[in-house]
Amino acid sequence: MSEAIVEDNEQLQPDEEGFTRRGFVKVAIGGMGVVYAGAIGYPIYRYLETPVEKEASEAAVKAVDLKDADKLPAGSTLMFMFGSKPAMLIHFATGEWVSLSAVCQHLGCILHYQPPAPRIVCACHGGQYDPHTGENVAGPPPRPLRKYIVKVLPGHVTVSKA
Ligand code: FES
Repeated sequence: MSEAIVEDNEQLQPDEEGFTRRGFVKVAIGGMGVVYAGAIGYPIYRYLETPVEKEASEAAVKAVDLKDADKLPAGSTLMFMFGSKPAMLIHFATGEWVSLSAVCQHLGCILHYQPPAPRIVCACHGGQYDPHTGENVAGPPPRPLRKYIVKVLPGHVTVSKA
């Protein structure tokens, strides 16, 4: 019993810089609490953002600059965020560059594409899009994907709205 008291007293003794183990634990728990609150709070804040605010923030983004994307190998795709919306930059084996929204026009599932597949296929309900034009060609999507303007420049690619 007396050993336990001695151990507790050692933990309460400040070290050379004035910290105690108990103080360190309090600071660590406080820091984790702040991180946890941010991790929970930010998605809630984003969810509660009004549609008008969301549209305004979407409209504010006119172009995205993708550093080093000019080095994307032919026959591959790069996923990126256009504002807050997922998008894809496709570099076809033919040398053609295309950028499309990666949000399915049916119920908003995120699309993925790997050339040379003939279609972008939505994994949620089987909707299909033409990867060159973004046209909805099969399944439930009611309209085409948004197509962006692509400018390939040395050291970067600029993707912009029409
Ligand atoms: S969400 Fe893509 S087909 Fe339904």
